[in-house]
Order: sequence, then structure tokens, then C-alpha cells
Amino acid sequence: MARARGVRLLALESVDSTNDEARRLIETGERGPLWVVAARQTGGHGRLGRQWISPPGNLHASLVLSDFGATAIAPQLGFVAGVAALRALRATTEDVGRFALKWPNDLLIEGAKLGGILLENVSAQTGDARAPVASVAIIGIGVNCAEAPKGLPFEARALTSVGPNAPDAARLFSHLSDALVEALDLWRGGEGFAQIRDEWLKHAAYLGAPIRVELPRETIEGRFATIDATGRLILATPSGERMVEAGDVSLGPRRIAAGGVA
Ligand code: BTN
Repeated sequence: MARARGVRLLALESVDSTNDEARRLIETGERGPLWVVAARQTGGHGRLGRQWISPPGNLHASLVLSDFGATAIAPQLGFVAGVAALRALRATTEDVGRFALKWPNDLLIEGAKLGGILLENVSAQTGDARAPVASVAIIGIGVNCAEAPKGLPFEARALTSVGPNAPDAARLFSHLSDALVEALDLWRGGEGFAQIRDEWLKHAAYLGAPIRVELPRETIEGRFATIDATGRLILATPSGERMVEAGDVSLGPRRIAAGGVA
């Protein structure tokens, strides 16, 4: 389906990072839609500049996408990709309920990290004097299909933990690429974000639970109330609602009373 809709594929044996390769291609004129997929990455990276260990057997894929709408709504693409990844995981494992989406862009299996999404934007020349610069998105998706890294400060798990019928990276990618076309259709350049948000929230980890959000200069605690119309996390705290644009979420230790921390 993705191919029929004009989405091309560049399959590589090894690359530093599929997101970095996508960026280089954009800089030389690529505008997508194009998937850059690599069997292994030597310099894979995740959110906040963290290393993303990328051995053969895991999925490493980045979609180059332009003409998706205003730059301001680009962060919504992380939720579109999350919904697509969740659909692909459920379809290929026939296993509802094991998977969850953790704000902002993590994929979980039974509470352990299974994968993540790294969304980046590149400002590209359009050649049009009226609007000379446009935003091109790179949606990078990594899934620990075969192997999960060890020694992290949180638990990570591989998809093989679902059993012998776990999909390999190629099968998961084939479902994911179609699921992302479908989710982008649902999103409709932002008009359908409410539907994406509803589906995302149905599978959200820790929704309604006490959480702790680590921000660059402070850690805040509260109840994970919802995400808003732009994808920000809404935290209910004793001093009112806090809107969070970026941060690291973990389950909070304290009891939360209605509307805030007890
Ligand atoms: C995260 O959880 O921090 C996001 C991880 C994103 C990893 C993927 S793998 C494909 C693409 N290439 C990269 O270097 N990163 C993303």
C-alpha cells in the first residue's frame, strides 16, 4: 500500500543513523516520501542526544516527509507515528494489550521500553520566492525486534519476548509503512489530530496515574491528566495544571489525590 501511494524505499546494510542519512538526502534535494531503512546503525541516536543501540535484527527506519502542513503542527507527527507503530505491533503479534505508548514518543511492551520515535525537522529551500523555506520532517522509528540493550537505567525488552511468532524487522516494517500511510490519512495535515489523539490516549501508559516528569531544570510530579490539542502533556498538580512540551516521564512514587499530589 505504501509503495502504491508513492512512498519509496532506500534499504541500506549499515549507516551511522537513518535519521542522519535522511537529513543528508534532504540537504541534497530529497523531499520524500521516502523510507530510509538500515539493517544496523553505527551511530543511532534517540531523544535528547542519547545513544540508540542498533544491532542487526532490530528495526531502524526513518521517513522523509514534506508538504504535511504548517511547521507548528510537526510535533503531532510523533503521535501519528506512535499510533501507526502500535497498530503494526498489534497486527503482527495478534496480541492486544501488551503494548503501550509512553509520552512523548516511546513504545512499551509490558511497561518495558521496546522502541522509540525520534522526530526531527529540516528547513529546506523550496525554490519558490513567495515561500522560500519549508519544513521537511524526518520520522525515525526504532524497535528492539531481536535484541534489547542491557544496563540501562530502565528496563528494555525485545519483541522476541512475545514468543516464537514475533515478527522480524522486515515483517514489522512492512506493516508499519502501511499503518503510517493510514494514520497520516486519518491525521489529514492536522485536521484529524483529535482522532489520532483519542487513539493515542486509549493506549497511553500511566494515564490518570501519578507520574514524575524530569525537565532540564526541575522535576515535577502530578497526575497524568491528558495530552492537549497540540500534544503537550497535561499534569494535574496541587498548584494547578502544568503543560509540558518535552521531558522524561516515569511513574511517580507518591499518592495522588483528585486533581493533584496528596
Ligand atoms: C528514543 O526513544 O529516544 C527515540 C529512538 C529513535 C531511534 C530511531 S532508530 C531509526 C532512527 N535513526 C536514529 O538514529 N534514531 C531513530
